[in-house]
Amino acid sequence: MFVFYTFAVGVALLVYYYLLRKEDKTGEPPGPKTLPILGNLLDLIWASSNMTQSLGILAEKWGEIYTLQMGTKKTVVLTSKESMETVLSNESALGREVSGTVSDRAFHKPIGILASSGLYWETLRTWAFKNLKDFGFAKSVEMESFIQTTAETLFNEIDTHIGTKKNSAAIQVDLLFHPSILTIMWQMCVGRLDPDDMPKIKILSEKGDRCLQSGVFGTGIVNAFPFLRRVFPNLLEYNIQMDYFNTCNAIAKRMYLDCEAKLKVTQKTKPSSLLEAFVLNTLNDKEMCNCENWQITFQDLIMGSTDTSSSFMEAFVLYLVAFPEAQEKVYQEVLKVAPNGGFPGYADRSETPYTQAFIYEVHRNARVLQNLAPHLATADIKYKNYTIKKGTILLADTRLYSESKEVWGDPEVFRPERFLNEAGELMDPSWQSIVSFSFGRRNCPGELHGKIVGYMFLAAFVLWYKVSIPMGQPLPRLDLKPGISSKPYPFEAVFTRR
Ligand code: HEM
Repeated sequence: MFVFYTFAVGVALLVYYYLLRKEDKTGEPPGPKTLPILGNLLDLIWASSNMTQSLGILAEKWGEIYTLQMGTKKTVVLTSKESMETVLSNESALGREVSGTVSDRAFHKPIGILASSGLYWETLRTWAFKNLKDFGFAKSVEMESFIQTTAETLFNEIDTHIGTKKNSAAIQVDLLFHPSILTIMWQMCVGRLDPDDMPKIKILSEKGDRCLQSGVFGTGIVNAFPFLRRVFPNLLEYNIQMDYFNTCNAIAKRMYLDCEAKLKVTQKTKPSSLLEAFVLNTLNDKEMCNCENWQITFQDLIMGSTDTSSSFMEAFVLYLVAFPEAQEKVYQEVLKVAPNGGFPGYADRSETPYTQAFIYEVHRNARVLQNLAPHLATADIKYKNYTIKKGTILLADTRLYSESKEVWGDPEVFRPERFLNEAGELMDPSWQSIVSFSFGRRNCPGELHGKIVGYMFLAAFVLWYKVSIPMGQPLPRLDLKPGISSKPYPFEAVFTRR
C-alpha cells in the first residue's frame, strides 16, 4: 500500500510540475513543445537517425537560436556563427554544468580546467597555461623538437609496418597517431619520456579513444537523466568512460606522489615540468595545487590535447587519400620549403599557403567537436530580442554554419582554394572563419598548440609518405563517426615511402 501511495503522489507531483506550473518563458528563444519528463528528446530522435544532424535540422524550423528541454535541463542551441560568437563571449556564459559522469570523473568536486567555473577556473587555467609555456607549450621553436622526436618515432613505426623489402603497405589509420600525439603533452606535463612511461601512454591512448568514441546516445541520455548511469552503466557506456577516467586518475596520482617524494629529497625549487610546478606550488596554494586537482588537470590536458589533434591527423590522411590532387599540391609546396627532406618548421607556413588552406578546409569538413563544449549561463543573457535565463545550458552546433551555402557558396565541395585569393595567397582573416576552437574567454586554450602540431605533423607526413586507397577498395566515408569527440570511421590507406 505504501509503495502504491508513494507512486501515486510521485506521479501527481510530476503532472503538476510539468503541466500546471506556470513558468514564465516570455522572451526566451522559441522551441518545440515539451513532453513531461522527456522534454524534447523525442524531437531530437525523430529529426534524424544521424544524431549529428538533428540539432541543425531543428534549427531549420526554429531559427538560429532555439530552446530545447533535454530531460530536466533547459538548453539553448546556438547554430549561427553570430549567435555562437556573441553568446559564448558573454561574461555570463563562462559557466559549466557539472552532473553525472562529469562530476564522477572529478571526485564530485568542481576542480580541473574543463569542468570548473568562477575564480577557481580562471586562476587555475591562467596558472597552468602560463607554466606550460615555460616547458615549450605553444612556442614553435621548443615544440619543434618535441614534434620531431614524436614524428620520427611514428615514422619508424610506419616503416616497420612497411618492412625493408617493400616500399609500401596498407595500414589501418585508426589510432595510428594517438599515442605519438599524447607523448607531446605528456613530456610537457611530466618532463620526461622514459621507456617505463610507454605502457602507460599505450593504455591511456587505448582507453581514452574508447571513452571518446563511446556513444553519443548513451552520453545524451546520462546528461538528460544522470541517475540512469547507475541503472544501465553498460548499456549507456558509462562504464567505458569511467574506466578511462579512473585509469588516468590512478596514473596521475602515482606520478604526483613519486614527484612529491623526489622533490623532498632533492630540495629542487625550480620546476622542469608542469607536474613539478604543481607539487612545488602546493605549499603556496594548497587549494588550487593538490593531488586531486593535479589528477583532473592532467586528465583535462591529456584528453583536450590528444583526442582532438589525433582525430584531426586521421582526418588529414582521410582527405589526402580522398583528394589525391590536393595531396600532390600540398607535397609540392612543402617540398619547396624542405628540399632536402628535413622537418619543415612552423615559420615555413607563410611559404605554404595551399597547405594552410588545406588544413582550414579539413577543419570546416571534419568537425571533431561539432558541438564545442556546453557552457552554462550564470546570469540572464540578452541576444537580439531574446533573453537566455540564468541556469540554461548553452549548446553550440557548428554544422549549419560550416555547410552554409550563403557563407561558402559550394560547401559540399572539398576545395582548399576557397581560402586563397587570385594570387594564390591566403586570404587574411581565413582562420577567423573557422569555428573549431570556440569563442570568448572560455575558448580552447590549446588553439595555437593545436595549430602548430597540425601544421608540422601534416607537413612532415606528406614529405615522408604518399597515401592512397588500397587497390579495389571504395573511397572511405568522409563523414565522421559520432562520439564525445568525433573522428573518421576506421579505414585503411596504402602508405608509400617518398
Ligand atoms: C585540433 C585541435 C583542437 C580542437 C579542435 C579543440 C577544440 C576545443 C573546443 C571546441 C573546446 C571547448 C571550448 C568551449 O568551452 O567553448 C576546447 C576546450 C579545451 N581545450 Fe581544446 N581543442 C584542440 C586542441 C587542444 C590542445 C592542443 C589542448 C592543449 C592543452 C587543448 C586543451 C583544451 C582545454 C584544457 C579545454 C577546456 C578549456 C576550459 O574549459 O577553460 N585543446 N577545445
